Amino acid sequence: MGNYIHGYLTGEQDRLLEQAGMLAPLIYPWVDLAGRNKVLEVGSGVGAQTKVLLELYPEINLTCIELEASQIEKAQVNLQNYPSSQFRIIQQDAQNLALEEKYDGAFICWVLEHVSEPQLVIDSVFNHLSPRGIVYITEVFNSSFHYFPQCDGLAAYYNAFNELQKENGGNPDIGLQLGNLLKKSGFENIELKPGGLHLDQSQPALLKQMVEYWKKLMKSAAEELILSGKIDQATVKAMEADLDQLAQHPEAVFFYQFIQAKAFKP
Ligand SMILES: C[S@@+](CC[C@H](N)C(=O)[O-])C[C@H]1O[C@@H](n2cnc3c(N)ncnc32)[C@H](O)[C@@H]1O
Repeated sequence: MGNYIHGYLTGEQDRLLEQAGMLAPLIYPWVDLAGRNKVLEVGSGVGAQTKVLLELYPEINLTCIELEASQIEKAQVNLQNYPSSQFRIIQQDAQNLALEEKYDGAFICWVLEHVSEPQLVIDSVFNHLSPRGIVYITEVFNSSFHYFPQCDGLAAYYNAFNELQKENGGNPDIGLQLGNLLKKSGFENIELKPGGLHLDQSQPALLKQMVEYWKKLMKSAAEELILSGKIDQATVKAMEADLDQLAQHPEAVFFYQFIQAKAFKP
């Protein structure tokens, strides 16, 4: 896949593992796949969420779908300590899934933002679920990002980041559309839940940790952003300096919401 904003370099593959570990306490409390033994994981990347799922649900049997061969290779390494009978990774485009089996659960996390036709992914998942099968989705809502103090370098970088995502055919606010997408595919009992972070100096350690994480997330797109001509190296440095300053600022605020959705196939 050509235009993936984060790229497929080793540093980015390691970032996905760190991201899953760090955000798991925010994502998984709302996910309940207990008793759902045949589960489809869509856009499984380097297996970062797969690891969490295998830890949380020792009985689970996962079919992971990933488009990019280098992500699959890395996932095989990351998952080598888990029983191979419990997961398999299939290289397919999630917009056009063709699997022989039906599943009683599906899990999608941080994928639809990168996809030009997210409705096709949800339709595909719908077609591969058994009746009363459940889907859980967690996706970005980048316009929700608010912070204090004002940071011009971060603002310029973030703007370019989201613009490039859109130019690449993705949608940095796809989280907002999850309910409508699920309804159009035929899902029922749809529930939506905003989740995320509202950090300030009342939790300085957590604030610092999140700002460090955010810096890595932003930086993962630096090469693509520079190549696109949207920013230069100075904007990367300014973004990093702004985030460092934000973590120290006595009035610092860091606010970001993602959206989770849960729905059933009738
Ligand atoms: C940000 S990563 C998230 C990976 C994993 N879900 C996680 O949270 O660690 C998005 C992944 O979706 C994959 N992807 C993007 N479009 C896809 C498609 N059409 N079909 C299958 N995988 C896709 C990318 O290759 C990438 O590995």
